[in-house]
Amino acid sequence: MKSALKSPAKLDFGHAPETIQFWKRLVREALSLSPPTPFYLVSALPIAERISELDAALNAAGFKSAIGNRQSKIGFKHWLSCKTQPVAPLLRWWCERDQGIEVVSEFELRAALAEGFAPENILVNGPAKHHWLAGVQASACSGNTLKRELQRTAPLRNLSVNFDSPAELAALLPLAKKLNWRCGVRILTGEEFDPENLQFPTQFGFTPDEAVTALKKLQRAKVRMETVHFHLRTNVSSVAIYGRAIAEVAEICRAAKFSPRHLDIGGGLPVRQVRTRGGKIFDGEFGLRAFAEMLRQSAKLFPGLRELWLENGRWVSTGSGALVVKILDVKERRGVRQLICDGGRTLNALMSLWEQHKILSVPERSGAETLTVVHGPTCMAFDQLARIPLSRTLRAGDHLVWLDAGAYHIPWETRFSHGHAAVVWHEERGLRLVREQQSFENFWSQWR
Ligand SMILES: Cc1ncc(COP(=O)(O)O)c(C=O)c1O
Repeated sequence: MKSALKSPAKLDFGHAPETIQFWKRLVREALSLSPPTPFYLVSALPIAERISELDAALNAAGFKSAIGNRQSKIGFKHWLSCKTQPVAPLLRWWCERDQGIEVVSEFELRAALAEGFAPENILVNGPAKHHWLAGVQASACSGNTLKRELQRTAPLRNLSVNFDSPAELAALLPLAKKLNWRCGVRILTGEEFDPENLQFPTQFGFTPDEAVTALKKLQRAKVRMETVHFHLRTNVSSVAIYGRAIAEVAEICRAAKFSPRHLDIGGGLPVRQVRTRGGKIFDGEFGLRAFAEMLRQSAKLFPGLRELWLENGRWVSTGSGALVVKILDVKERRGVRQLICDGGRTLNALMSLWEQHKILSVPERSGAETLTVVHGPTCMAFDQLARIPLSRTLRAGDHLVWLDAGAYHIPWETRFSHGHAAVVWHEERGLRLVREQQSFENFWSQWR
């Protein structure tokens, strides 16, 4: 029967041919290890590329990497956003490069410590930290001898901590002093709002008035008060938005008579090679060179500034992952072809609610295309990775590869009727399975 349904146009996601070749080769190599599907394939190499690209733009604008920077130039430092891709070998790979990590929960802080990050290279962000950071400390301090206390608190000395509210600051200030934290304040600038309800502010940080009070209090308290911070949201669409937020933060610092050593502009650089569900690109108005140039100009607003801090998650790691699923069954009804796969949106790629990604097939299938829906295995009509034209010759047993799954896929994985997927890791030393597919025993043994 001829389809009465309109097939969307085929999108060009803009990947370089070498990128596609890279993933095709890597998926074939990964499949030769016979991992169970679905699995995530995560590679460090695209992360290294993204970082070099950002470094080159910042260097060209006169900034100097903080690692080994002994010059008088303003430095910059990348903090790996742990929540974006909490994958142990990635943390190890990043730690080996002596870079910093940004954490927002007790689990993330403990993961960073477990993977060997020095406290000086850990930045603690996020709301209501006094309910866990103080708790970690209180339990660590409950030992009976001073020696034991010092041993146990040592991992939390010299952390960088960005305070998020007046209550949090009041509760944590004594610890900040005792443990020599590098303190910062997150500021809710006028540029920060809920992207789905623009009239609402986010729940993060100090309002400008609260920030002035907090900055004065921290200076009086004689702690290591060094950082002002904001994080606007994800996929910030233009350089000008960052520029306005930085100008507002500079104004707040002036009002508080505070000269920050570090300006932490959070993450939010817009993702590439991914489209909205409506087919729009996210980074249309964004240029890295213009971004770096804006930063160069904006840095002049902060006399005494030593380092620019960046916490980009999505921009850095989106291109470093792929989700590989296997077609289990094929149906055809009311003019649409349906591929039932062993992984999909509900389990592995909630991002497909908002985003369209390029899909490859292994083996490659050519020939006439037809409107096809790629479904996961769960009992929800919601479970659809994509509704696009695909080759009619795709069949059960073929693999589909959902590219650009390196950010916010693994942390948003679900266990809806099934267990967690396997993870295959790739770096300079090769490929290896780093997480098994979740077993039934593991899935069920959590219950008492
Ligand atoms: C404080 C903070 N920094 C950095 C990030 C990373 O954001 P993105 O992935 O948009 O770069 C987030 C994400 O939620 C965040 O909350």
